[in-house]
Amino acid sequence: MIKKTLIVANWKMHLNTHESSLLVKRLHDHIKQHRTVEVVLAPSVLVLQPLSLELDRRVFRLAAQDANAKDEGAYTGEVSFTMLRELVQYAIIGHSERRIYFAETLETVRDKVQAAVRNGITPILCVGETHQERVNGETSRVIHDQVTTALSNLTPEEIEDVVIAYEPVWAISTFGGEIAKPTDIKKVLDLIRKTIADLYGDQSAQHVRVLYGGSVSADTAPGYLAIDGCDGALVGSASLNYKQFSSIVDVAYRLSHGEEEIHG
Ligand code: 13P
Repeated sequence: MIKKTLIVANWKMHLNTHESSLLVKRLHDHIKQHRTVEVVLAPSVLVLQPLSLELDRRVFRLAAQDANAKDEGAYTGEVSFTMLRELVQYAIIGHSERRIYFAETLETVRDKVQAAVRNGITPILCVGETHQERVNGETSRVIHDQVTTALSNLTPEEIEDVVIAYEPVWAISTFGGEIAKPTDIKKVLDLIRKTIADLYGDQSAQHVRVLYGGSVSADTAPGYLAIDGCDGALVGSASLNYKQFSSIVDVAYRLSHGEEEIHG
């Protein structure tokens, strides 16, 4: 089974419509269509519609950064996955900034994952321990709880299509930005896959794409993308810089291309 390497740009609450369009033009000039790499942009929700009209869909796909778990109703200020389904292929769900700043619980994240799948949108489920949880030796328990609860309303077939991004909170540039070691990351990526295998079987575990996120840059990407079992990266601040981001995509292409050649 050939899995495409997934490189996701999370622009967070940066870039208005005009700035987003400028960045996309620069990315267009620097990123080519790759058979082995899928590039996903997650701009502000405001920008999704205009960007969807100007994007080359052979090169870029779109993701929402969040949405409400309900399909419609009296929820002032909210946007539903139902409203987004014509616009995006992916949705980031359960990012640590939402868990920490917006008090999203394990159950909120589970309901959002289910709502995304119900609307034909692939969830990019973010999991990761805080600095304190890491110091307390709670990483495995935290990851296990976040993964099992978030996926608990999906069938094994639905789980095969899910993307999980391991983002240790302490490694995110705006939360401390400690550079995580690839050997430490590999242990957690393996744990995520084992958790899925135990609950839903080996086939689901093998199909799930597991990404790494946290201070991924042009410099750190080669080490992270070379981890056995790492299917891509979720990039924050470096994705706002076209040189950095296109160089990360290039690293992914070279690594996946090399692998393809080795395996014939
Ligand atoms: P940085 O790449 O800025 O560390 O952010 C990671 C992140 O939160 C992506 O979702």
